[in-house]
Amino acid sequence: MPLATLSDVLVPARDRGYAVAGLVCLGWEDMRAFVAAAEAEDAPVILQAGPSCREHTPLPVLGAMMRHLGERASVPVVVHLDHGYTMDECRIALDSGFTSLMYDGSRKPLAQNIDETAAVAALAHGAGISCEGEIGFVGYADGAASDGTDPGEAARFARESGVDAMAISVGNVHLQQNREGGLDEARIRAIEAVTDIPLVIHGGSGVPVAQRTHLARTSAICKYNVGTELRMAFGAALRDAVTRDPKRFDRVSILKETHDPVEAAARAVIRGMGRV
Ligand code: 13P
Repeated sequence: MPLATLSDVLVPARDRGYAVAGLVCLGWEDMRAFVAAAEAEDAPVILQAGPSCREHTPLPVLGAMMRHLGERASVPVVVHLDHGYTMDECRIALDSGFTSLMYDGSRKPLAQNIDETAAVAALAHGAGISCEGEIGFVGYADGAASDGTDPGEAARFARESGVDAMAISVGNVHLQQNREGGLDEARIRAIEAVTDIPLVIHGGSGVPVAQRTHLARTSAICKYNVGTELRMAFGAALRDAVTRDPKRFDRVSILKETHDPVEAAARAVIRGMGRV
């Protein structure tokens, strides 16, 4: 299956009433398990390289690994830069074979966020790939507080930036380890009333699964970013594998044992995206 752009997978998702999982990758083991999960569920998937992933592994290496998996997959795979903070970083991702760029100008004043995101969207579109932007600010558990998306600003951002998908702040918070949060459905409805752009929810780990599915089916939310939930599954599997046999030292034999539990956790996430 050829690699896909964000628009390739999100437009059908919006039109047919489901969402696509944007799964946060930290390395070869998890990205491989995520593609296996998507194939098992016969669903498209978005492999995401965020800031902590790129701090550990350079973008050209990540691009090559993700493309290697995507080019051989039986389902559409998007190779996505998550939270790009500079034009330079976005250019390197483009040159590294990414098929989608997120530019995050959400901490900047509206006009600056629009201008900078529009420049990244133009770069992406010129190369035949997609761009995601963020309006409003999605905060962090035990960190910066959120700033909810204003529907009027969202409509202007979507129109003037030219992005293919728009991340919004509607009660979602990054890095939550439980699913006790919930999204503000009234704010989502107010946003989708003024724009028809596919919407993205960051901090998907904190959203109750029933709400993820319900909104995937009934709203313009077409992409949930999920990281923490899967990192927890990976961490638990790794801890088990390391401690089960204290004599074992070969890392490949240890890491191999993370594959099945991480694939199972990713399959559960993908099943919650509302596809029938
Ligand atoms: P969580 O780690 O909270 O699921 O968020 C992931 C995310 O939004 C990455 O952009």
